[in-house]
Amino acid sequence: MPVPTESRLDDTLPGEDAVDSTSPGSIDGSPNGWPDGWPDDWSDIDTPAFVYDTRVVRQLLTYTDGLRQASGCRVLFSLKPFAYVDALAMMAPHLDGFATSSLFEARLASQVLRGHGSLHLTTPGMRPDDVGEIASLCDFVSFNSLSQYRMHGEALSRAASCGLRVNPQMSFADDERYDPCRPNSKLGVPLERLVDTLKREPHRLSGIDGILVHSNCDSSDLAQAQATVQYMEAKLGDLFDRVQWVNLGGGYLLDESESLQPLCETVHFLRSTYGLEVFVEPGAALTRAAGYIVSTVLDVFESGGKEVAVLDTTVNHMPEVFEYGFEPDVLGHDDDADHEYLLAGCTCLAGDLFGLYRFHEPLEAGSKVVFNNAGAYTLPKAHLFNGVNLPTIYAVSESGDLDLKKRFTYAEYAARWGENVAVSV
Ligand SMILES: Cc1ncc(COP(=O)(O)O)c(C=O)c1O
Repeated sequence: MPVPTESRLDDTLPGEDAVDSTSPGSIDGSPNGWPDGWPDDWSDIDTPAFVYDTRVVRQLLTYTDGLRQASGCRVLFSLKPFAYVDALAMMAPHLDGFATSSLFEARLASQVLRGHGSLHLTTPGMRPDDVGEIASLCDFVSFNSLSQYRMHGEALSRAASCGLRVNPQMSFADDERYDPCRPNSKLGVPLERLVDTLKREPHRLSGIDGILVHSNCDSSDLAQAQATVQYMEAKLGDLFDRVQWVNLGGGYLLDESESLQPLCETVHFLRSTYGLEVFVEPGAALTRAAGYIVSTVLDVFESGGKEVAVLDTTVNHMPEVFEYGFEPDVLGHDDDADHEYLLAGCTCLAGDLFGLYRFHEPLEAGSKVVFNNAGAYTLPKAHLFNGVNLPTIYAVSESGDLDLKKRFTYAEYAARWGENVAVSV
């Protein structure tokens, strides 16, 4: 379960060279920062907004292009952090397919791919009712447990290549809440269990074509991926001989500044030693730096000695802020600036707070506040608590235009609460 790495004001992320997160912008109404290269004519933007910059997505994809070329691995995009269909369609030609975690994600991915690229699925929650359609949609299914494989393996193996998700029992994430290898993990067959099965009941693995390992979160250290594979190979070498593919999952930030070399070496090793087809399925690495939440200040007042600025967005539009208790990046924030505000979300939840931020220009009702590095695990987790609408979705196009993609309606909100709601708007 990925989360943004550190607090605000981190180093510039890949693809973000056009964005100066500390210099004040010059556009009326947004004295505290606006991404360079964004359209000047943004004053009509409907906030709260989720904006993704297609130019940054394209730049992030160049890192995986490099990885494919250098190592021969296949790159999938994991839909978990962001699944807006236009963005998926734009990414698809640069990818070998999509990785999904449910029937709905698989349907969506299939509609975008239209057979061009492979469709992969893994989930701890395989629902018996979904198995038939998953089989018809997916090319590769990694079972989360041996019992799941026993229950559904036969039905799925008729149509898809079946693998097992393995928990390498080698932790790197320092917070258990997003460590797939945490004690008593529900994610994947524990390595020790698999070693034992291989020795004592190898028939239980008959029909298994592949291995999936996803064991990290937001790591830039690809030597950790290499160490994981080396550890697994030492314990499970026999299994590597029997399968045809390995999926190394996501959990790594494939940015320019970090060396992709350990990953390239690992892919090369698996391909040359075992003849395996190797997949990776990054998520956040391909979208986080491309996304923004744009909000408008609704109110500013003093409370207990702090200036509180209430925004028209909420932590429920970026739920990981609340879940993991981090302070998101905000454009224009500067530790040395004069004007400090407690940025607050607009719901009744007392803890709907983003944190303390400092700006060079004072905020007032109508000012814009822009959260950058918000492109991953934002929209898919956003919800409508208090009836606060979801952010309107915009894309900055290749030519720098701000294109309205989707405005959520009252009718969509009301439909969740009953067929008979009279909808007049
Ligand atoms: C199996 C699997 N693959 C890929 C991903 C994507 O991870 P990330 O967005 O950290 O790259 C996840 C995230 O939870 C995952 O569980």
